[in-house]
Amino acid sequence: MNQRSLDESNAIIVEAWNTVLYDKFCRFRHLLIDGLSQHSDAAFERCKYQEGARVLDVGCGFGDSTRRIAKQVGPDGEAVGVDCAENFIRDAETGARRDGIPNARFVVGDAQWGDLHGPYDHAFARFGTMFFEMPGAAMRNVRKALKPGGTFTQIVWRRREDNPWLHEAELRVKEIVPVVSHEETDQVHCGPGPFSMSGPDMVSTMLRVAGFERITFERYDCDICIGRDMADAIEFAMALGPAGEIIRLAGEEGARRRPQVVEALQEALTPYERPDGIWAPSSTWFITATAT
Ligand SMILES: C[S@@+](CC[C@H](N)C(=O)[O-])C[C@H]1O[C@@H](n2cnc3c(N)ncnc32)[C@H](O)[C@@H]1O
Repeated sequence: MNQRSLDESNAIIVEAWNTVLYDKFCRFRHLLIDGLSQHSDAAFERCKYQEGARVLDVGCGFGDSTRRIAKQVGPDGEAVGVDCAENFIRDAETGARRDGIPNARFVVGDAQWGDLHGPYDHAFARFGTMFFEMPGAAMRNVRKALKPGGTFTQIVWRRREDNPWLHEAELRVKEIVPVVSHEETDQVHCGPGPFSMSGPDMVSTMLRVAGFERITFERYDCDICIGRDMADAIEFAMALGPAGEIIRLAGEEGARRRPQVVEALQEALTPYERPDGIWAPSSTWFITATAT
């Protein structure tokens, strides 16, 4: 890809996060933040940042993890959340003001090549590194923002087969809705997708080339709530993840086939129904790496 088409393609991804995906994240915030924070709760138990540390939160979204890190490092430390989407950053700033956390700061920027305002003692990312057009460039940029010996902890989805809440929905939807690739549409899209960092060999090579060492992968599995009830879970599956992207990119055709999709998703999600909502298995890698 030449520089011009790379810039255009990246601009499309940034626009998607700032518009259609931001709106969907707001709509399903109750699932995305509460459900997915189970993974970061477990990661934070393992990496306790010391008081006074400066920590970068890559692709910080609503900034709840940034605020949590800011509390951990205390008033002498700082947590800086970086996100390419202005709307997420505005929301994150409002959250920090509301909670009275002055040492959580937020910056609009592209993690692949923007100024990340280093140097940092540590970097962290919860599901914030899977959607880059140029992940290798992002890893290098994060490494440059770290002090030598600084750590980078990333939480990313493991393989799709161990995340049936996303994968089964995708398979069902693919049987019903025609798949339109990113290249065939002029609509904005999310970028490479949630499983782009699921392969340890590829990711560890990328981190090594970017200047990291002591790269480790820890598998973490837990059930997450993907709907307060069946209707919520079906709407969530139809809005986000690979299934949601297939429906959205199919445009009118996706809308027309909605009744069949609802029926298929109901069937796929029924095994996960519990009295307190819809709970499905999920699986992540906690990747840690040290900057050389
Ligand atoms: C799946 S969301 C995760 C958000 C947050 N970390 C969380 O766990 O709720 C991915 C985030 O990465 C951001 N993002 C995508 N590409 C980016 C880029 N090139 N530079 C910075 N942020 C990016 C998106 O705007 C979005 O907020």
